[in-house]
Amino acid sequence: MNLKDLYIDFFVSKGHKQIPSAPVVPENDPSVLFNTAGMQPLIPYLMGQEHPYGKRLCDYQKCIRTIDLDAVGDTTHHTFFEMLGNWSLGDYFKDESIAWSYEFLTDCLKIPVNRLAFTVFAGNGDIPFDEVSYNKWLSLGIKKERIAKTVDDNFWIAGDIGPCGGDTEIFYWRSEEEVPDKFDPKDERWVEIWNNVFMQYNKDQDGKITELPKKNVDTGMGVERTTAILEGVNDNYLSSIWKDVIDLICEISNLPYEGNELSMRIIADHLRTAVFIAADPAGIKPSNTDQGYILRRLIRRAIRHAKRLNIDINSNWDELIAKKLLNKYKEYYKELEYNYDLVLDVLKNEKIKFNRTLEKGLKVFEKTVKNNANIDADAAFHLYDTYGFPIELTVELATERGLKVDTKGFEQKFKEHQALSRTASAGKFKGGLAGNGEIETKYHTATHLLNAALKLVVGPDVHQKGSNITSERMRFDFSCDHKLTDEEKQKTEQLVNQWITDGLDVTVKQMPKEEAIKSGAECMFIEKYPDIVTVYSIGDISKELLGVFKIKKEEASSAGVRRIKAILK
Ligand code: SER
Repeated sequence: MNLKDLYIDFFVSKGHKQIPSAPVVPENDPSVLFNTAGMQPLIPYLMGQEHPYGKRLCDYQKCIRTIDLDAVGDTTHHTFFEMLGNWSLGDYFKDESIAWSYEFLTDCLKIPVNRLAFTVFAGNGDIPFDEVSYNKWLSLGIKKERIAKTVDDNFWIAGDIGPCGGDTEIFYWRSEEEVPDKFDPKDERWVEIWNNVFMQYNKDQDGKITELPKKNVDTGMGVERTTAILEGVNDNYLSSIWKDVIDLICEISNLPYEGNELSMRIIADHLRTAVFIAADPAGIKPSNTDQGYILRRLIRRAIRHAKRLNIDINSNWDELIAKKLLNKYKEYYKELEYNYDLVLDVLKNEKIKFNRTLEKGLKVFEKTVKNNANIDADAAFHLYDTYGFPIELTVELATERGLKVDTKGFEQKFKEHQALSRTASAGKFKGGLAGNGEIETKYHTATHLLNAALKLVVGPDVHQKGSNITSERMRFDFSCDHKLTDEEKQKTEQLVNQWITDGLDVTVKQMPKEEAIKSGAECMFIEKYPDIVTVYSIGDISKELLGVFKIKKEEASSAGVRRIKAILK
């Protein structure tokens, strides 16, 4: 059995409910591009909201961290990774959490206790030393020398604000050398494998720390790292998670892994992340902003490294690798199955686009650096803007020649450019701020009618992405992977107008199936939680009639997002 299954089985046996992995693109948190930790989709519940699955949860969550993008290529960094997690939402606390972590590692995974060490929070001004965790480890038979009290690494928060708390981290001795008696957290041969965070605080915008309504546990264990450790390899890419992908790259390039590690790891890592971004229900497509830009950078960097391995980039090398990844993961993540062809299309189209400018861009690059000149901001921006060279590609090419790129100047230009495009699109809608008048209120009602109608007509994957109301019209952005057909537009209009005529206010809400059945609600099933359903509630429009709803325009807003402009006549 593999690590994910062992983990879930273990925590289910301890009364946890398995929750499905949330999409990689956060659904309700525009402040981050991707989920970076297993706890991120659970923030509202850690803050006190009741989770429909109860108080003990476990899962494997898809995570993407792009902060270390440049570090990918070494033995341990990945942009995409899976995080195993178990949570107590105001249920058990330190005692059980620590005991179960210990039991899972030593009983289920059979890791020798002698290879383990632990850190606990030493305390600072606001928060005291975590004596409970310290004593718990001692009570399990851990020697004092193997428990370090530290401050810096033993307080966990995702970013700057939100639920947080002291933690106890578990380390594994990843070295052939004899395990030292005393644990030195600074010795890099000790690698962290699990983090148990005791989330009992919230940090607000002013840096103020207050107690959360409930004491929670949030733990996280990286699948890639732990698998490599269990399999006794020092390079993650040699573990069973990557081995078949690396073997395939060797076969395609006709080159050995040894001596070509950097490019092979980058191709494997970047294509895996690209597959997961492209398959996400958010419908991300390569673009020049946000998640789309990350997707573009990953694909283009993988292409460039394929070129370095002398792979014929016009062949179907990327499709072969993507298929291997899709087949490998689709058992665990259903969207890879549903969006199998879509992912392959995304990769293919982006490759075609990049291939058109890659050769020319490389020539321009060569010309720019002819006399060993460093690359200034203008040249870097030109390569980006005209030849589609993501900045790190230019930096990578320059670094190979020992040259520098003015990345700061580039960022400045990039920002100016973005600001310009934003102003241009904002200008299209003067006075776009929502007002509070009667007509705006009507448009507001029309917005949820439209949302509910689209979900029914187009499908449950439609999610509202934004809206904007003026006294003259409404604008509604929603996730959708295709241009609406005339029939879809017509049906949507009809449904909204039917509701308006019947004086009905239809809203969409999600709740557990049992609750929905109890309340007798009519419901439609959605994929995210198999036993969470989407419920359409019907209320009355108490105000006067809204008028006739008419879709004036349906167009692309950004990748995977469509925009409807509509009026009430
Ligand atoms: N949130 C903690 C982490 O990401 C534990 O899950 O390390």
